[in-house]
Amino acid sequence: MSLQALHLASLLLLLSPDCRWAHAAAGQLIYNGFKGANLTLDGGAAVTPDGLLVLTNGSIQMKGHAFHPSPLPFRDPGAPNPAAARSFSTAFVFAVFGQYADLSADGLAFFVAADRAVLSTALPGKFLGLLSDADNGNRSAHIFAVELDTLFHAEFRDPNSNHVGVDVDSLVSRAAADAGYYDDATGEFRNLTLISRKPIHVWVDYDGGAARVTVTMAPLGVPRPKRPLLQTAVDLSDVVSGTAYVGFSSATGVLRSRHFVVGWSFAMDGPAPALNISELPSLPPSGPKPRSKVLEIALPVASAALVLAVGGAAYTWVRRRSKYAEVREDWELPFGPHRFSYEDLFHATRGFSGEQLLGAGGFGSVYRGVLRKTGTEVAVKKVSSPAPHEPSKQQGMRAFVAEVASLGRLRHRNLVQLLGYCRRRGELLLVYNYMPNGSLDKHLHDRSKGAALNWPQRLHIIRGVASALLYLHEDWERVVVHRDVKASNVLLDSEMNGRLGDFGLARLYDHGADAHTTHVVGTIGYLAPELGHTGKPTPATDVFAFGAFLLEITCGRRPVEEDDHQDGGSNRVMLADRVVEQWRKGSITSVVDARMDPDGCDPEEVSLVLKLGLLCSHPLSHGRPTMRQVVQYLDGNTVLPDLSPAAYLGFTEMEERMCRRELGQIATSTSMGTTVSGLSGGR
Ligand SMILES: *[C@@H]1O[C@H](CO)[C@@H](O)[C@H](O)[C@H]1NC(C)=O
Ligand SMILES: *[C@@H]1O[C@H](CO)[C@@H](O)[C@H](O)[C@H]1NC(C)=O
Ligand SMILES: *[C@@H]1O[C@H](CO)[C@@H](O)[C@H](O)[C@H]1NC(C)=O
Ligand SMILES: *[C@@H]1O[C@H](CO)[C@@H](O)[C@H](O)[C@H]1NC(C)=O
Ligand SMILES: *[C@@H]1O[C@H](CO)[C@@H](O)[C@H](O)[C@H]1NC(C)=O
Ligand SMILES: *[C@@H]1O[C@H](CO)[C@@H](O)[C@H](O)[C@H]1NC(C)=O
Repeated sequence: MSLQALHLASLLLLLSPDCRWAHAAAGQLIYNGFKGANLTLDGGAAVTPDGLLVLTNGSIQMKGHAFHPSPLPFRDPGAPNPAAARSFSTAFVFAVFGQYADLSADGLAFFVAADRAVLSTALPGKFLGLLSDADNGNRSAHIFAVELDTLFHAEFRDPNSNHVGVDVDSLVSRAAADAGYYDDATGEFRNLTLISRKPIHVWVDYDGGAARVTVTMAPLGVPRPKRPLLQTAVDLSDVVSGTAYVGFSSATGVLRSRHFVVGWSFAMDGPAPALNISELPSLPPSGPKPRSKVLEIALPVASAALVLAVGGAAYTWVRRRSKYAEVREDWELPFGPHRFSYEDLFHATRGFSGEQLLGAGGFGSVYRGVLRKTGTEVAVKKVSSPAPHEPSKQQGMRAFVAEVASLGRLRHRNLVQLLGYCRRRGELLLVYNYMPNGSLDKHLHDRSKGAALNWPQRLHIIRGVASALLYLHEDWERVVVHRDVKASNVLLDSEMNGRLGDFGLARLYDHGADAHTTHVVGTIGYLAPELGHTGKPTPATDVFAFGAFLLEITCGRRPVEEDDHQDGGSNRVMLADRVVEQWRKGSITSVVDARMDPDGCDPEEVSLVLKLGLLCSHPLSHGRPTMRQVVQYLDGNTVLPDLSPAAYLGFTEMEERMCRRELGQIATSTSMGTTVSGLSGGR
């Protein structure tokens, strides 16, 4: 290793920039190793005594930058087009050492940045130390980068976890390609694994005249391939309008990866000088394998090393075991296919990081994740006390897991698919399909969300949820009572289909077998009055909740709202009362959500749904329709019985008083009354 940092003529020139830089080939940097290099380093960045540039040193949530200390002039006032950014060319050799040989770490990037402030506020992890959440996508960031990205982030529209991207002011790449190169001899594409711990040579060229970026890569030692990996039109004129810093950025998230740059050259207005491979410093050994030389020279040293290695491995193994420890028991064997390993879920959710948190509620937190084996997007729900109402925890857990496995077999296009589970001490993790458009609750009640759902969308969601409930009640092999039908448990997939979610709470209702159950689970406003005395969920209690849901989605109001009373106090107002009141006045459709486009609202459909909602909210369970009847009414195959508001006035004035009293008891007797679905997704 001959480790020398050569600045050639550039150093002197840089001390007095502008005009000299403007004149051609003199403006060059070359570092065959970084020993003694004059670079600005921050974060985890450092130069080792061997001359390796370390961008991140193995700490988590850390960023590191290394860049030329003074900004370079990216404009040439003497050029035919002085407003255009100058051409430049750079070559570098890097290596990524992930924490695990087979698991993505985070990546690194070469950048050209007009302003250092952007780098200082940039975030680690997926932001690669280039941008912050606030800057991302903002054209005032004035940063250009070529990212060597080793993680998949759907929100940045990454193609996979091993790609090269050209970024302008945003981590959503202008163009991206799988990491690799085209073999000069055969023309075939060959994959390169960025996290392989092997040195990779990269060439980036910007042609200012043609406003085009070209990226080429190859394993170190392979000559620059003729066919570039990536070529894309990018005009840097409005990105760097004067001078700019050039260098490297890297970041770690939850994994302890290390990023090295071994050599770097840069030139304005001409090709970057070639790196001298024989002078580059060597990388740290890439594996724990003891060298055979050690054995030959000194056996005692070798055995000591072996003992240390074994001890170290055992220590790592024990630590790893406790970090990823799970509870597995023999009785779980039949449920094998539904069982996820904690390690997989840990990595999928990037260590259950706050960034991945989708929501939190009474039953636990929900994280978004990507399973690395299949690339499937999932929502992972962490439930801290899985079976709180079972007398024997062991029995309860067994029943619960059996139920999860059995519910995992439910398949319906309007159900959120439950993919499986994982058990830890005191913790249960449920894995569901990820729903990109979040919960219906947010769309209905979060005014900061954009346009409100229109009526055809709402009706489509209603029909979907109705068919899912019918499937659970009648069409599956057993009767499944959902127990917690409500807007926040209805999730929207990418096509805006409503999908009923959160079976974490649903218990199988096995014709009487469950009759002793006296615990009420549910949400105020959706709880059928008879739950107050029977405590036993039935399909009819689901229908009651569905009725409340119908009124909620149509009116855009919650089933129970606090209302300021004339006499100063506040009062609970039942949405059903409002609807009945307007119906009595002959204007039932006046209660619809005012945010809906009135043109799309078919008054007949709206009135059918509202009346059906009231019918389902019948205080007496035998007065409610079954889900099969509900679906028939919605499809127009059966005409809704001719009801008059007077029939409902009867309830509201007499029986409802009783119902409300019972509802009140439920509300105070169960702390679980106000569940919050965590499965809500989307940002
Ligand atoms: C990495 O660098 C940071 C900042 O210099 C330091 O605090 C941290 O201890 C280092 N981590 C390791 C693993 O060397
Ligand atoms: C490093 O470069 C900067 C800017 O080019 C210069 O001001 C500084 O004197 C240099 N430092 C050394 C030690 O050469
Ligand atoms: C973009 O950044 C500039 C400067 O930091 C700021 O003034 C502006 O409001 C930002 N624009 C957006 C859309 O965030
Ligand atoms: C290259 O990688 C891609 C994606 O990982 C894979 O589909 C393809 O089969 C690989 N090709 C070769 C030649 O290994
Ligand atoms: C590369 O460096 C080696 C060792 O310093 C030297 O002998 C060789 O001439 C250099 N090659 C080039 C092309 O400069
Ligand atoms: C979410 O719904 C909107 C319509 O409101 C749709 O345009 C969009 O594609 C959906 N989002 C996703 C991620 O599919």
